[in-house]
Amino acid sequence: MKLILFGPPGAGKGTQAKLLIEKLRLPHISTGDILRSEVKNNTDLGKQAKSFMEAGKLVPDSLVTEMVRKRMQSPDLKNGFILDGYPRTEAQAKALDEILEGGIDTAIYLATSEQVVVQRLTGRRVCPKCGTNYHMTNMPPKNDMICDQCQVELFQRPDDNEATVKNRLAVYLKESSAVLDFYKNQGKLEHVSGDLDSEEVFNIISKKIAAL
Ligand code: AP5
Repeated sequence: MKLILFGPPGAGKGTQAKLLIEKLRLPHISTGDILRSEVKNNTDLGKQAKSFMEAGKLVPDSLVTEMVRKRMQSPDLKNGFILDGYPRTEAQAKALDEILEGGIDTAIYLATSEQVVVQRLTGRRVCPKCGTNYHMTNMPPKNDMICDQCQVELFQRPDDNEATVKNRLAVYLKESSAVLDFYKNQGKLEHVSGDLDSEEVFNIISKKIAAL
């Protein structure tokens, strides 16, 4: 199954992807995670992407699409994947159809309100070792600021401050309707409320996938 998780920053795409990989046994591809790793390793791509990410802007389509094209050649994706963070523009959606030839199977749209998104992102903390997302009030770790599994200190993503979150949302609002229309016109768009708690969202997505 070729599944896309689409929605605003903080909709819970990464959180749901982690739950879905257990259930569907499919690889998770997050363009945000790949780009953060490129920045951390100071690669050419990372150097080009860094300033866009820090400002809450989109990395240029050509760079991200090339990165996705390479990742899609990997043999571990032969049974499908859960793609989170791509496509984000109509040009990326068209490019993905071209890369995959037959296109995707389903796009799950996590529709989430602005107020919820800001609360989630400013409260998010991440484990630097295993990448687990926590939330200081919604999904807190057992011990203050320490990952439950790795016992290392959690950190706040640099783009999770309020000003950058607002920029990320503005970019999303500008680009998202064309992507939603693209998949709606293909009859592949499934709508789920991202405002619900994580377990409820997961149950709804699971039912939608089972009905495909
Ligand atoms: P990326 O990493 O993809 O960021 P994003 O889309 O802004 O999404 P987030 O990772 O912030 O949120 P999420 O929806 O995964 O939510 P999460 O599950 O963590 O991209 C970062 C940057 O990279 C972009 O700004 C851009 O510069 C660049 N980039 C990436 N892809 C690109 C592309 N295709 N083209 C161009 N540029 C690109 O949840 C958030 C918080 O809420 C967590 O704390 C979690 O614990 C909590 N939470 C989650 N679900 C729930 C729930 N249901 N109830 C309560 N709390 C919840």
